[in-house]
Amino acid sequence: MMSVSTPLELALGMPKAELHVHIEGTLEPELAFALARRNGVTLPYPDEASLQAAYDFDNLQRFLDLYYACADVLRTRADFRDLMTAYLARAAADGVIHAEIFFDPQTHTARGIPLATLLGGLEDGLVEGQLRWGISGRLILCFLRHLSEDECLACLDEAEPLLGRIHGFGLDSSERGHPPSKFARLFARCRALGKPLVAHAGEEGPPEYITEALDVLGVHRIDHGVRAVDDPEVLARLAREGVPLTVCPLSNTRLCVFREMAEHSLPRLIAAGVKVTINSDDPAYFGGYLNDNIRAVQAAFGFDAATWYRLARNSFEASFATDAEKAGWIARLDGFFRQRGALPA
Ligand code: HPA
Ligand code: ZN
Repeated sequence: MMSVSTPLELALGMPKAELHVHIEGTLEPELAFALARRNGVTLPYPDEASLQAAYDFDNLQRFLDLYYACADVLRTRADFRDLMTAYLARAAADGVIHAEIFFDPQTHTARGIPLATLLGGLEDGLVEGQLRWGISGRLILCFLRHLSEDECLACLDEAEPLLGRIHGFGLDSSERGHPPSKFARLFARCRALGKPLVAHAGEEGPPEYITEALDVLGVHRIDHGVRAVDDPEVLARLAREGVPLTVCPLSNTRLCVFREMAEHSLPRLIAAGVKVTINSDDPAYFGGYLNDNIRAVQAAFGFDAATWYRLARNSFEASFATDAEKAGWIARLDGFFRQRGALPA
């Protein structure tokens, strides 16, 4: 007898892309303490359990303070490789076949770690991920918006000789009080380089930050963007223009952007016709990887198979890969659903 897959089984098993994950946010307590020992660094917590107990955030800044403190254990090329490999192993187990991964060079170069060291280590991990699990990975350099535009311009100067190894540029860190328009000159330079661009906007910040990211920075995707529902015009524009949102459900509930999953704007975004994708953001800090996000969303909203198919398809369509790569991945997705008699009409 043919077994019929439930929508959750389909969503967990389906091939998918992850487009919003910060590599520093994949640092699990166990690896943090192993690297601290390896490098003779002292973490501000005595053991893994007390570090984990500190993962009780009531806003973005509380999380960022701990996230930057833990990043101090990352020192050598091997550390960055191990971090990347650990993430890719978990992503592969969740059916991720393509990942576009953020890294924050300023967090490390400010501590005296050369950009070439961290980039080399992250790439070593990507090579291993491709060989061991067949995952395709790209790196997106994120600027820290709590710093000045001049500091970010200096970071771009440093990155210019390594541009062939950087797929795109993004903007992250503390959103409130740091609007996209603060980085108009920086993104004008990034645009001139012809790379894909993204920015965190509308996570804690207002819908106007989404509009600024599109109109002033010229980004191709919005990271989070979940507060678009607060402004019907912004919401309609995202749908009309097909602007993808990289939504991170567990992150949003952990950082109290929404009190609980049932209040998340995800179903409203989908209903409005926005090209939504589901992602893990900082999985070591927010309670899980991509499939943990899918389980939490499904428990709250009970989406049907067609909605999960659409979300996976969006993840490929919204990626910064070639048309040929996207077509190949979508064919794999179709094959997965067809084999289970679940390919939507
Ligand atoms: N928002 C802003 N900056 C970040 C995040 C986030 O969720 N994670 C890592 N840096
Ligand atoms: Zn993020």
